[in-house]
Amino acid sequence: MASHCGELESDMSKFLVVLGSQWGDEGKGKIVDLLTDQVSAVVRFQGGHNAGHTLIINGQKTVLHLIPSGILHPGVTCYIGNGVVLSPDALMHEVDDLKSQGVDAFSQLKISTQSTIILPSHVAIDQARERARGGNAIGTTGRGIGPAYEDKVARRALRVGDLLDAGQLEQTLRAQMEWHNFLLTQQFGEAAIDFEETLAALTGFGKTIKPLICNVTAELAALKRAGKKVLFEGAQGALLDVDHGTYPFVTSSNTTAGGACTGSGIGPRAIDYVLGITKAYTTRVGAGPFPTELTDSVGKHLANVGKEKGATTGRDRRCGWLDTVILRQTVVNNSMTAMCITKLDVLDGLEELKICTHYEFNGEKIDFPPAGAADLAQCVPIYETMPGWSETTAGCTEWSALPVNAQNYLKRMEALCGAKIAMISTGPDRLENVILEDVLA
Ligand code: GDP
Ligand code: IMO
Ligand code: MG
Repeated sequence: MASHCGELESDMSKFLVVLGSQWGDEGKGKIVDLLTDQVSAVVRFQGGHNAGHTLIINGQKTVLHLIPSGILHPGVTCYIGNGVVLSPDALMHEVDDLKSQGVDAFSQLKISTQSTIILPSHVAIDQARERARGGNAIGTTGRGIGPAYEDKVARRALRVGDLLDAGQLEQTLRAQMEWHNFLLTQQFGEAAIDFEETLAALTGFGKTIKPLICNVTAELAALKRAGKKVLFEGAQGALLDVDHGTYPFVTSSNTTAGGACTGSGIGPRAIDYVLGITKAYTTRVGAGPFPTELTDSVGKHLANVGKEKGATTGRDRRCGWLDTVILRQTVVNNSMTAMCITKLDVLDGLEELKICTHYEFNGEKIDFPPAGAADLAQCVPIYETMPGWSETTAGCTEWSALPVNAQNYLKRMEALCGAKIAMISTGPDRLENVILEDVLA
């Protein structure tokens, strides 16, 4: 009989967490895809289809929102963990999109019985609430993420396992939707969502995904015991963490490394390595403080060259200089083993580069950010200026081939953030990287 608590059969196992160090869109999808050829499984542990992870392989672009970025590697199991909020419509759309590319996602996908279901009424509430907030809107992706997590914490959510029990499904859904429709009609003056239609859709969805539903924690325990390598794919970024981010301008899950444990069921000592995907500059989508934001021609340059448009909502991303004060916090929040720097090539050709090393806050020079949005909004960045480089780093695969000024910029990043650099991404394609350390060795 298979045991979940026996001795390790091999000590070759490696559990690697890959997550965003800033406000999301650092290039996580590209790096997860790249590393997937070395692993048995990829796990999403938080967030939902608010994420947009771009993979470019031989010029062909795939954007994934909910399905783990390992899906393009046949034979790799892709898990949706308990910490994820799952939209049935979004999942089926993505499965269909992948099918049109010749990828049979169902043959690789497994879903936790404990994942929370996003209902159409969550989407309606998310959007109604944002409209009602007016100028104080958070700028959510409007995908129902926040309301779904609210219901999870309020202990009234519908979970994937409930879809297989008709009585449980109807009872839980009815109670939840009564509350949602009360909010929609009474608080927001919006139309109610039809219960019977939602029930029928969920009943059908339950039948469709039944073969994929499993105990993800038990499977991960078995993979650990069998000495397998597993990659945990974060969504969003550390500064969007509901506890440690720029609250209230955050998402509704724990995006930091602890989320990989609570969102999949493994314990903290099971994690061997935390790789923080870190853009060589800073971007943010949606509202909230951003001390190093640039609204001048340099900001526009970063947006244009970096093609900084949201992969989920198509919104323009706000751009700014590298901020090592927030990264110092991120390194701590995630016990970050190393960073992977992305989009270095976007800095090519800039005459000089600024790095934010400290903030001025309440008349004092500080090296660690204050908590929350209100105080961060008061922080004035203090910069150090470094010379740029006129050579191109795009597509570079060797450290020695990088311009000396680019090498110096990266070394300064390491020193200021307090974390080493294991990888450098120099272009959007899977193969455009400088690998300094094999993070799965
Ligand atoms: P994610 O949400 O963290 O997976 O990142 P997104 O996919 O939302 O955004 C990253 C964007 O940058 C995508 O369009 C990627 O194709 C692109 N990208 C990733 N790495 C690099 C890089 O090193 N250089 C350039 N120029 N683009 C990159
Ligand atoms: P990936 O995984 C960037 C932002 C939204 C908004 C806030 C809350 O591609 O990096 P939500 O819909 O989650 O309630 O919105 O979080 N946001 C992201 N920003 N990248 C993402 O994902 C994001 N997912 C959510 O713009 O400011
Ligand atoms: Mg993204």
